Amino acid sequence: VLSRIRLLTAGESHGPAVLAVLENMPAGLALAAEDIDGDLVRRQGRQPGSHAYPGASARMGIEDDRAELLAGVMAGTTTGAPIAVRIANRDHASWKDRDVEATTVPRPGHADLAAAVKHRYPDLRFGLERASARETAARVAAGAICRKLLAEFGVRVGGYVTAIGSVSADVSAIPAEARLDAATRSDVRCPDAEGSDRMRAEIREAARQGDTVGGVFEVVALGVPPGLGSHAHWDRRLSSRLVGALVSIPGVKGAEIGDAFSGARRRGTEVHDPIEIRQEDGALVRVTNHAGGLEGGITNGEALVVRAAMKPISTTRTTMKSVDLATGQPAAARYERSDVCAVPRAVIVGEAMVCLVLADALLEKVGGDSISEMRPRVETSRRMRLDDLAMARREWRFWP
Ligand SMILES: Cc1cc2nc3c(=O)[nH]c(=O)nc-3n(C[C@H](O)[C@H](O)[C@H](O)COP(=O)(O)O)c2cc1C
Repeated sequence: VLSRIRLLTAGESHGPAVLAVLENMPAGLALAAEDIDGDLVRRQGRQPGSHAYPGASARMGIEDDRAELLAGVMAGTTTGAPIAVRIANRDHASWKDRDVEATTVPRPGHADLAAAVKHRYPDLRFGLERASARETAARVAAGAICRKLLAEFGVRVGGYVTAIGSVSADVSAIPAEARLDAATRSDVRCPDAEGSDRMRAEIREAARQGDTVGGVFEVVALGVPPGLGSHAHWDRRLSSRLVGALVSIPGVKGAEIGDAFSGARRRGTEVHDPIEIRQEDGALVRVTNHAGGLEGGITNGEALVVRAAMKPISTTRTTMKSVDLATGQPAAARYERSDVCAVPRAVIVGEAMVCLVLADALLEKVGGDSISEMRPRVETSRRMRLDDLAMARREWRFWP
């Protein structure tokens, strides 16, 4: 998924901390822990300064995530060396120095059984501690650093929820930038106020029934330079890297670029985005953006729009059928404190993954070891007016 940047995360859900090491960020980016903390708070299901939405795990009341920058930053600026971030697990205090009872009944929809079979674990906790979405706090920290890099070049990344369970909100009439702004005012991160009410009710109803819900979220990037990705290499198509990054999020089972699935049911002339020259500045622009800002695996200068489907949370209060691996007897999976719906939280992880992929693609395109080295190259790459494209009408002998 990434070619220039490397991200390694480590840490167990109830261990001392989760960690991120991010390699190949250019030097000269102003960076402080506070640049990361805002996104960590949002991942907890809160808007800064407010409570979590109904149905966010009670653990979010325990954790108060804060980033500690341990390496790669000196005098408030990145140096080009690997950046290390640590986020302490406050819940660790209640797990440390205590005997924990055995976990031997795998929960359907979790990594429990698959990880135990793969690694021959003597207790499911060896796997589930790492498979937990607590790990996504480290990704959000790394994503926030990439977000800061992208912002240097005028790229804004945001996300919002369009469906929770059977409730969906049609946000197509709201311009992309306004959607991002409106989502920041909704606890369930839906840009539509009436849709937010219905989504909240849907989460409450699922909780009342002892059940869980999933949903759909979108991530949008504005101001993305054209020319990121590749049409020439299957594994460098930005479309495949974005989809891969999104489905790497725990619980996300599908992702699409632009109007992929709805477009599949329509005619070509309704789906493709006509090209025109903007009178004011002669730029080549699109009348519509069904392609979600990508053609041939390359950004085309329009807003980047990706969408992801998250399954209902696996841990259900109404227990599901399983088998006790200690006895071989049928057993009910045990309920552990959990989200009823994590879609409004997963949006932030989706934003982080898109930031990582875009920062990586930008570095791949323009190279550079410092922000100042990158700046003129990014400016050049943005030019897509007619007179930037020196084309002549002549014949070519391509294969003599
Ligand atoms: C932000 C976030 C929070 C999550 N919270 C929970 C949770 O509280 N309970 C739960 O069962 N799954 C939760 N999940 C999903 C599980 O981590 C995921 O379903 C599980 O690890 C199995 O992986 P898979 O669904 O990708 O196969 C969450 C996912 C994300 C992205």
